[in-house]
Amino acid sequence: MAKRLGIITAGGDSPGLNAAIRGVGKAALASGMEVIGFRDGFRGLAEDSRMRLDRRALAGILTTGGTVLGTGRDKPHRMEVNGRLRDMCGVIARNCQRSKLDALVCIGGGGTLKNALRLIEKGLNVITLPKTIDNDIALTEATIGFDTALGIATEAIDRLHSTAHSHHRIIIAEVMGHRAGWLALGAGIAGGADVILLPEIPYDVKQVAAAIRRRKSQGSNFSIVAVAEGAVSKDDAAEFESAARRKARAKTQAERQRAKTELTVLAARHSGNTLRLAKQLEELTRLEARVTILGYLQRGGTPSAGDRLLATRLGTMCVELITEQVFGVMVAARGDSAKPVPIAEAAGRLKLVPPNHPWIESARRVGTSLGD
Ligand code: F6P
Repeated sequence: MAKRLGIITAGGDSPGLNAAIRGVGKAALASGMEVIGFRDGFRGLAEDSRMRLDRRALAGILTTGGTVLGTGRDKPHRMEVNGRLRDMCGVIARNCQRSKLDALVCIGGGGTLKNALRLIEKGLNVITLPKTIDNDIALTEATIGFDTALGIATEAIDRLHSTAHSHHRIIIAEVMGHRAGWLALGAGIAGGADVILLPEIPYDVKQVAAAIRRRKSQGSNFSIVAVAEGAVSKDDAAEFESAARRKARAKTQAERQRAKTELTVLAARHSGNTLRLAKQLEELTRLEARVTILGYLQRGGTPSAGDRLLATRLGTMCVELITEQVFGVMVAARGDSAKPVPIAEAAGRLKLVPPNHPWIESARRVGTSLGD
């Protein structure tokens, strides 16, 4: 029977983290366990920076944004300590053993899954909960934070409509999502964007301009473009792909380094992509274009009812699994219930938007251009 639980939140924050901490914490306390929170992700485990999560600490946090534990992007096997990168997995394992932790709950995204695996290899009883506004974790139907971010991005697109309409402009709303376009696609559909651009479907700027011109010829002198921050043009996608191929084929360290540098240069060039797209569309359509980068607004503030519910469901199921001594798993959302899936199977895999996903088909059916 597990007696003492540790909890961390790691990676980028997302709405619903506190609801998850509360769900795990309250259910664990009710089962007679003691709950310890570690601050700022894996760093808190390495530095043994902790706080007791008793009834008092867990009260009043269900509705709050961020995480009461703090978070960080530190990796346990490459953590900066006194200006040097160190493998802290052993230190973390020893700290957890000294603290007599029977289980460690890591609430995080894709990076957290990989880091959790490293701690499992050190013999720790780890269990994870999936959170990210990007909704890109494999083997779970939902992630904590996505629903709130979807609502925020949709409301932003709603609001951009009236100003775009009044000024006869193109407004490009840049939505988070470097590799997966779930948020741009969902908010684009829900907000009625005219064009939606995703990392999974490279676009042709001429096709995007043609869609906007078509609207103009039908009397709509404005357009809303929802673009994921990782959306790429077909030309850029081809360059990225050949650099990635060169990296995969590299035989010598020098070749690998060259390809890596090439990828870094391409990524840096891509960082201003949305502004470049606005300029290109102005030239091709003769309409004024403006850009709104939604950025961290999408991650901040109070979680939606859907995220509070999901976090509570997964958090309480997590404690049930711990009492059954089920470890090494992520608590995945499956419809109205939850299912443990091996962390080893979910780590290192991304859930991308499939090109024939029903959301894509619906978007096309209502006449939304996907720029391809
Ligand atoms: O949490 C995922 C994510 O929101 C991405 O969509 C975004 O690109 C990234 O985090 C940025 O986070 P940060 O600047 O905190 O590293």
